[in-house]
Amino acid sequence: MRIGFFGCGNMGAALAHGFKKFDPTVEQYFFTPTKAKAQELAGAVNGHFVEFVSDMPKDLDWYVLAFKPQSLLDFAFDFNNNSKILSVLAGTGIEKLSKKFNVENISRLMPNTPSGIGAGANLYYSPFDSGSMTEMLKGLGKLFIMKSEVELDGITAFSGSGPALIFEFARLFEKHLIAIAGNNPEAREIIAQTFLGSAKLMENAVSEGISFETLREQVTSKKGVTFEALQILEKNGLDNILGGAFVAAHKRTLELKKGI
Ligand SMILES: NC(=O)c1ccc[n+]([C@@H]2O[C@H](COP(=O)([O-])OP(=O)(O)OC[C@H]3O[C@@H](n4cnc5c(N)ncnc54)[C@H](OP(=O)(O)O)[C@@H]3O)[C@@H](O)[C@H]2O)c1
Repeated sequence: MRIGFFGCGNMGAALAHGFKKFDPTVEQYFFTPTKAKAQELAGAVNGHFVEFVSDMPKDLDWYVLAFKPQSLLDFAFDFNNNSKILSVLAGTGIEKLSKKFNVENISRLMPNTPSGIGAGANLYYSPFDSGSMTEMLKGLGKLFIMKSEVELDGITAFSGSGPALIFEFARLFEKHLIAIAGNNPEAREIIAQTFLGSAKLMENAVSEGISFETLREQVTSKKGVTFEALQILEKNGLDNILGGAFVAAHKRTLELKKGI
């Protein structure tokens, strides 16, 4: 397969590495306005550096749009009408892209930062049969096929923004560990391992049909240490705080879609 990339930042690089891992014979072309990242990525995956946007070959199997939604206004490329485009632009609908480029075959991917290490939760919606591209995307981690763009936009707040929220929790764990137990040089590692081990337990629970609530109950004895901590979270309205954060993120996704 031959793939052209417009944008070579976090997501462009994650996809290019994932594709290469899945199919070492993939031929990839890279363009970015300031050139350096495209050159670097082309070198890293043994691909082709494209110096000017107009030099991007027009007969490739797929094109990946991996720039910020705000850059869409400035981006211009004269795609062939039968080109296939994979867009990772958050909150940017297929209809808008289709009108701008006069191309029908457009699919949307919502990766997340763990996609860069092959451990992403990747949401994918394609209104047409995207054939081997669907297989290639498995190089980024787990692939979840969405039934509609509405579904993809609804889950984006959880999978796309999710890692940042989890990192914020981890930061607070570390801060409070130090406040209570002193400045332990292994504090960060202890927290990271706690998250990693818990994620592995959650993975097993999902495959065994066990709920997250059951997992929590398994480590919470009445009037015990964990019980005390959970009581404080409940009293201070963690549920509402997180609910508000997700509603705000979803609202922002929809605003971006409307171009606000
Ligand atoms: N980061 C995430 O966790 C995440 C998750 C899901 C979806 N996304 C989506 O992924 C997209 C990319 O995010 P990112 O984190 O990879 O951004 P990023 O690291 O800032 O990279 C953006 C890239 O786009 C390039 N670019 C800017 N204007 C361009 C243009 N006119 N033509 C071609 N390339 C252009 C930049 O070029 P220069 O190198 O020249 O500056 C840069 O290489 C966004 O639309 C975002 O919504 C991100």
